[in-house]
Amino acid sequence: MIAYLIMSFLYFIVAIVIALAASFASWQILPWFNGMVWLRVHFITLGIFTQLVFGAMPILSAKYYGLPRPKMRWDIWLSLNAGIALLLFGIPLVNSVPIIAGGTLVFVATTLLLIQISDIRSQSERALAITNGRKFYIAGLSYFLVGILVGTGLFTNWSGPLGIMGDAGEVHIHANNWGFMSLVFIGFFVDLYPKWARRELSNPKAITPIFWMMTAGALALILSPWFANTTLAAVGAVLHTSANIWLLVIAIKPLRGDKPAWTAGMAQMLVSYLWLFAPLSMAPFVIFGIESLLPAKLLEATTPQALIYGWLLQFGFAIVPYFFQRFFVNEESAELGGTWLSFWLVNVGAILLWASILIQPVRGLLHGGAYLLWAIAFIPVAMDLWRKISTGMAKAEAAMDHSGSLQ
Ligand code: HEM
Repeated sequence: MIAYLIMSFLYFIVAIVIALAASFASWQILPWFNGMVWLRVHFITLGIFTQLVFGAMPILSAKYYGLPRPKMRWDIWLSLNAGIALLLFGIPLVNSVPIIAGGTLVFVATTLLLIQISDIRSQSERALAITNGRKFYIAGLSYFLVGILVGTGLFTNWSGPLGIMGDAGEVHIHANNWGFMSLVFIGFFVDLYPKWARRELSNPKAITPIFWMMTAGALALILSPWFANTTLAAVGAVLHTSANIWLLVIAIKPLRGDKPAWTAGMAQMLVSYLWLFAPLSMAPFVIFGIESLLPAKLLEATTPQALIYGWLLQFGFAIVPYFFQRFFVNEESAELGGTWLSFWLVNVGAILLWASILIQPVRGLLHGGAYLLWAIAFIPVAMDLWRKISTGMAKAEAAMDHSGSLQ
């Protein structure tokens, strides 16, 4: 797990720099820097998050079944990181050789992980029972395979041969966000909410219907742009949003009236879902063909960034420090991370980005302002992560010193 966390921290730091550069580019301070969107988005999605979830999912699943902690799978870590490295120069250069090689390696890493997690279970468990995060991880990774395939094909003209009739970029975004990340996050809620909130989710019986609504909703939201079918978009949006709202209800209910339970971490994790719902709230405009009321093209080009920074990154500000504390220091003391400063900066930033879509005269100013606030929001969390890393490293060195293996 430590190898994944180190990579996640590296991308955490790089993501700060690219957010700052994006802000200066919008303010024409760095006019020559086009602030490539792909890097901004994928340092967070592939860099910070994919590392974290690839490391955590097998460990959490084995722990649930009382099985020994799985050995580190260096084949998965290596193919994932070699794949990402190839994509990091292949996509900006729009060169199909490193893009296809990189996408294929990430696909292989995901398939190996899917097989590993599918094998982690108790013989006695009923096939359709959903009692922990494992099935959410399996469904999420399956959608990620679709996201990788379509994403790798975006700049190498695979959309035609794949039979995609609508917007392939949307298929990619839906597979990775409504599918992969949404399902994995609920898996984390099921496995870790008792540790985060020190109490149980309010209605465990809701987990199974939430799983099926989320999985079917994500499928409809992927097939909708695939077959250019808006009815599927409506069905998917309703199922997906209802499943997430149901999850928030069973997570918020046990916290009601308990002010100390509303830590910055808990607030960031739950409030982040507003920015998941925001793009979905645009669906009716598209479904009923009234998007001419809105700057549709600009919405399409900009809302993915608000989704990734407002929802994914903010959720990350809470759970990334939790995993760093759990694996670098110790599990018992691990708590959700994040600060109230990051909470306000990341949410005001998301409001500014949405405002930049709607208020044309000051669009550049607002867009640059959003990225500056996001860049600053990273810093208190990055400092906390560094403290946890150095505590963990000092502990490891002391242990090796003690065992004399450093002599
Ligand atoms: C092997 C993995 C991946 C590959 C090859 C890939 C490739 C791509 C490509 C080529 C684009 C289009 C960029 C453009 O039009 O400029 C894109 C956009 C995007 N991808 Fe990925 N991606 C991958 C993983 C992910 C993951 C894991 C997520 C999220 C969880 C994600 C979320 C997005 C989003 C939100 C956009 C839209 C960015 C924007 O236009 O603002 N991708 N990706």
